[in-house]
Amino acid sequence: NKVVLAYSGGLDTSVIVPWLRENYGCEVVCFTADVGQGIKELEGLEQKAKASGACQLVVKDLKEEFVKDYIFPCLRAGAIYERKYLLGTSMARPVIAKAMVDVAKEVGADAVSHGCTGKGNDQVRFELTFFALNPKLNVVAPWREWDITGREDAIEYAKKHNIPVPVTKKSIYSRDRNLWHLSHEGDILEDPANEPKKDMYMMSVDPEDAPDQAEYVEIGLESGLPVSVNGKRLSPASLLAELNEIGGKHGIGRIDMVENRLVGMKSRGVYETPGGTILFAAARELESLTLDRETIQVKDSLALKYAELVYAGRWFDPLRESMDSFMQKITETTTGSVTLKLYKGSVIVTSRMSPFSLYREDISSFESGQIYDQADAAGFIRLYGLPMKVRAMLEQGI
Ligand code: ARG
Ligand code: SIN
Repeated sequence: NKVVLAYSGGLDTSVIVPWLRENYGCEVVCFTADVGQGIKELEGLEQKAKASGACQLVVKDLKEEFVKDYIFPCLRAGAIYERKYLLGTSMARPVIAKAMVDVAKEVGADAVSHGCTGKGNDQVRFELTFFALNPKLNVVAPWREWDITGREDAIEYAKKHNIPVPVTKKSIYSRDRNLWHLSHEGDILEDPANEPKKDMYMMSVDPEDAPDQAEYVEIGLESGLPVSVNGKRLSPASLLAELNEIGGKHGIGRIDMVENRLVGMKSRGVYETPGGTILFAAARELESLTLDRETIQVKDSLALKYAELVYAGRWFDPLRESMDSFMQKITETTTGSVTLKLYKGSVIVTSRMSPFSLYREDISSFESGQIYDQADAAGFIRLYGLPMKVRAMLEQGI
């Protein structure tokens, strides 16, 4: 039998290869997804996997699929977890796990494995995706089974099994990077009172070091989805890459928070989401023209649930999929452009335009108008305020 392992080439996943062979007596197919984490030396990766005892390395470029089918729907939904988190890691797990299910089928594997710890959200996201897409697959989560507890243990295990110890220098932080974001957890961040060190950040400059000159950026959207930057049409992945560049230069999109993990504990994380922060500002702003009050309220309330489902690994839940249909329908006319001014960490909206705008200057202008008759307001206020009046009459014995 065969197992497909989510493989990064780091120490942990390198040790999992011999561990699976020893404990499950199976062949190990390593799988690496390119979700824009910036994998260096892809060729070296195959040798590395084989040196650890894998029979094969499969690499798939999922960047466009990730942005188009996972990130953009969340953006369109306005999905934000616990007021701040733009879900960078949460969205990446289902696209990777889905590809693993496909690879398992291609290579004839009956099991899948991942290197997530037993204390986090990621294990849940991987495994719920496996359940949803192929309930027959066996799942092996070494971290929940083995007695390797730290880095030294892992190196020891590697040496004992004649596995070359990967030379990747271990960061003091637990990081996860993709095209949308970079997350930092662990080390000094574990005390929520500690300010992150300046040199921790990788995708964005410190706002204090950002250019003194503001930069304008124009985002074009069609039906709630971004299509262009400064008038240039780009594929989803290249559009996001470009905005990461621009946003990072201006110190945009740093998020420092304490969040509630699905497994019950609180966790402190720091995220860098430069391009994503720009896109959220643009999409939200355009909706102020294209959606009416009640629609925005309902959409925002559903967005909370949508974000919770994504965070909890329930991407392939029909509930999220149905909510997505709602989001798609309701944003059909969210087409137009938004101009933003980026300056030392802040995103300032300066302009919004849409051919489907519900804003009418001839109605809203202070300079009078035909359709809106100010005299109508008197009757409206009398009826709208009637309950308040009735209550006061009761209280005052009138
Ligand atoms: N706390 C974030 C989340 O649950 C980030 C997790 C980062 N994962 C990692 N393997 N370093 O989505
Ligand atoms: C992990 O525990 O594997 C990373 C953190 C998380 O999944 O939340």
